[in-house]
Amino acid sequence: MALHSIHASATWLRSGGVPAYLKFIGGRGHSAGAQGVRLIGMPRLERVAKRLCMAKVAQIPIVRILSVDLWEGEGLSGLLIGMEQVTPLMSQIRAGETGRNDSVQVLRSLRSSEFGNWVHFDICPRNVGRRTSGEFVAIDLESLYLGDGGQGVIDVSYPAFKHDRVPRHVLRMCGKVSQGGMPLPQVQRKHDGEVVVLAAECSLGLKAYNFDDAGVEQWCAESPCSADERDFWRRTLRRVLVNGDFDLAELADELERVDEGGIMVSTDDVSVSNQSDGDLFSRGRDLRRGTLSRKEIAEYRKELGVYAEKNAGDRRVWEELLLVSLAYEKDPGRGVQLAEQALVQFPGDVGFQDNLTLARMWGGDA
Ligand SMILES: Nc1ncnc2c1ncn2[C@@H]1O[C@H](COP(=O)(O)OP(=O)(O)O)[C@@H](O)[C@H]1O
Ligand SMILES: [Mg+2]
Repeated sequence: MALHSIHASATWLRSGGVPAYLKFIGGRGHSAGAQGVRLIGMPRLERVAKRLCMAKVAQIPIVRILSVDLWEGEGLSGLLIGMEQVTPLMSQIRAGETGRNDSVQVLRSLRSSEFGNWVHFDICPRNVGRRTSGEFVAIDLESLYLGDGGQGVIDVSYPAFKHDRVPRHVLRMCGKVSQGGMPLPQVQRKHDGEVVVLAAECSLGLKAYNFDDAGVEQWCAESPCSADERDFWRRTLRRVLVNGDFDLAELADELERVDEGGIMVSTDDVSVSNQSDGDLFSRGRDLRRGTLSRKEIAEYRKELGVYAEKNAGDRRVWEELLLVSLAYEKDPGRGVQLAEQALVQFPGDVGFQDNLTLARMWGGDA
């Protein structure tokens, strides 16, 4: 969630001085106005707090929750979450400290079946960390939802996720949902797809392209791992793209058998389709890698806006603006406006229509 939040490292004295991490999400009281910052409504934070209290005792691969405190008063309202401190996977992948063994471990330990009826709605390198004991766990727990065991639906009230990490057929499912919630099996499939992408990043490096055929091709071509590993990922990612009918434990077993020490292919030898770096859209690669700062993302969005004024018929600009606004800036209000503008240019477009449905559903419960 990119809402108004404050993060801090701390020492948890109650548990004998363990390193802790605090996240405070500012909340808008029942009566107060938004005061210029996008604050989340207290009813929604109350629901998050309730879920976290349940998750705290669930046997699932999430960061250890130390405390959950709702504050509501004259001065300061919000939710304070105390967690164990972990090492974000993002920093390890960026530093080139991950490889095949981590991919295998991610596939085995974070797959949806390990979460029971819980689902994490935004698995990515920033939202997964490594504990000191070596296990991977999910962080950013506002994105953790509990399915309704009976009806097999899940009430995702804040559908913030990185659209570029999800195959188009799964995106379509997210756009089609009704107020009643999303079907749990499909959301679990989305979770598993995101886990596969994350596992691939541990071997191939951070993904800089959309999750589609062309993106997979470029990503694999640019990666510095062995030819056999590359082949494995090319095959696997394509499979996930087509139907999502895959078993993560089997993938992990298969990957373990791949020859890691095989021939290394120098990325210089691989021809990758050229995008000029001066091109506005080339910044989208850093966006997708997750390496742009909030300020840089805002600047990128503004420049896209200027481009859109003169080139409203270029659908890439609307897709990119919607990705920035919904997946990275998490602004459903702007998402609605953009999807409406895109639909003026491309009437009846199914993808933009899905964006609109999703943004409306999300924005309706601030
Ligand atoms: N328990 C934790 N231990 C260490 N770092 C954390 C922890 N929780 C969050 N972080 C760091 O803060 C970043 C943002 O936290 P996250 O909960 O994902 O917030 P946001 O809602 O902004 O996405 C993470 O990517 C990670 O770098
Ligand atoms: Mg996050």
